[in-house]
Amino acid sequence: MNLYITTPIYYTNDIPHIGHAYTTISCDIISRFNKLSNKDVFFLSGTDEHGQKVEKAAKEANINPQDFVDKLSTNFEKLIPDLGCEINDFIRTTEKRHIKSAQALWNKLIENDQIYLSNYEGWYSVRDEAFYQESELKKIDGNFVTQNGSPVEWVKEQSYFFRLSNWQSKLTELYENNPDKIAPKSRYNEVLSFIKSGLKDLSISRTTFDWGVQVPNNDKHVMYVWIDALCNYLTAIDYPDTSSQKYSKYWPAIHVVGKDILRFHAVYWPAFLLAAELKPPKKIFAHGWWTNEGKKISKSLGNTIDPYEIINEYGLDQIRYFLFSEVPFGNDGDFSKKAISKRVNADLSNNYGNLIQRILSFIVKNCNSTINPVYDYNNDDFNLIENFKVKYLEYKNFMDNLQIDKAIKSIMELLSLTNAYVDLQAPWKLKKNDLKRMETVLFITVNIIIKSTIMLSPIIPSSSKRVLKFFNDDITYQNFNDFNKFTDKIIKINSPTPIFPRIE
Ligand code: MSP
Repeated sequence: MNLYITTPIYYTNDIPHIGHAYTTISCDIISRFNKLSNKDVFFLSGTDEHGQKVEKAAKEANINPQDFVDKLSTNFEKLIPDLGCEINDFIRTTEKRHIKSAQALWNKLIENDQIYLSNYEGWYSVRDEAFYQESELKKIDGNFVTQNGSPVEWVKEQSYFFRLSNWQSKLTELYENNPDKIAPKSRYNEVLSFIKSGLKDLSISRTTFDWGVQVPNNDKHVMYVWIDALCNYLTAIDYPDTSSQKYSKYWPAIHVVGKDILRFHAVYWPAFLLAAELKPPKKIFAHGWWTNEGKKISKSLGNTIDPYEIINEYGLDQIRYFLFSEVPFGNDGDFSKKAISKRVNADLSNNYGNLIQRILSFIVKNCNSTINPVYDYNNDDFNLIENFKVKYLEYKNFMDNLQIDKAIKSIMELLSLTNAYVDLQAPWKLKKNDLKRMETVLFITVNIIIKSTIMLSPIIPSSSKRVLKFFNDDITYQNFNDFNKFTDKIIKINSPTPIFPRIE
């Protein structure tokens, strides 16, 4: 089985912040989980380098746009491994391969009579790189702005149009027949009602600036940045060569996007694809937005969150864990220092870390650092093993449905049950009168620690690696094969070092 997963490509008008990090980490978690499930995964990220917004930022910096994007793109590319993410390709829309691919898509749409030349007159927001109907705007101090407060300008120019209106019923049908194509459900409803309210043809070229992909056969026009940008998902798998191995293996993709750019991905993009006789996306998942201590994050408020700063303060895995355990994936979330400490201390230090620490140090001290397989179980043991199986299944189902927070919760519940089991069985007492029982309890607990660590590995990859090293690399699971079974090997334990010190 194959999986193609994409992040949005990030605008190179500024440096990366927490919102960008959030989308990328979410895809990394999904990618790592699917690799453990034996899928062949292709994970793409990149930068969106054309358009008025980027051109404007370059002008303000007094640098030519190409040099400007070369510099800014590096920050996004470097951030990915610094977030502990492993991608397969990083695409930039100023690359030759992409320009070729975007122009090929354009030509295909021309060939299929999906594009015509006319005049556009209406509102445009450079910040959102989006056209707006007046009915979608509100007035502040006598000026029209978008619902999010982005300024708009009146644009009047010759423009190519995409026949989006022709696709209204096809898109309705697509989503009514495939209700899982857009998630979460509330977003699905939102998109469907937008489509049903009527689709107008979409302006897809601009003439008043030139920082974009040239429209084939008309050098007065550059492509509207969104048709250029969306096409990146095809470029990376060799489009227009649809017979390539990559294309055949991976298309269609799962796109993870923020709720602000859902319409582009769930309405325009599938329409372009269908109009070019290509398959629409497999799934589009829209996540929510983060606020900072209750306030909307914005440059003008000066409260953007630098991913490097919080990673330095709390640790990479602590941040990854917080972002995906604290808030249901799909909902908005609030970033607060108090919430991070509380969450990390309760789950990672007290529940997970403490179990590892006390069990492994006990084994090192009392069992010559060795645990032998034991299969002679009593009711308490069977109960815990049964709970492990249930929690693992829950975890797997939640992860398959991109309910990352719920999947994490299942692991934490399993760890709480295991801590309670250890308290009740009290191996430190068994040491005095029942060594056989003590070994059994330790063997079961160690197995559950290992399993939980593997289940947590998509979320906290580098800490999981460190924990698995306590088991002398005897246990290196690459996948969920035979996951319900406990090991039949002797396990040698290294002295554990603290993995998640408490945040004070
Ligand atoms: N370039 C377009 C995407 C083109 S995809 C073909 C774009 N870029 S962006 O850099 O502005 O935003 C990228 C992603 O960051 C979006 O998914 C957006 O939702 C996300 N975030 C930006 N700020 C955010 C928060 N405060 N919280 C969570 N995510 C947010 O849009």
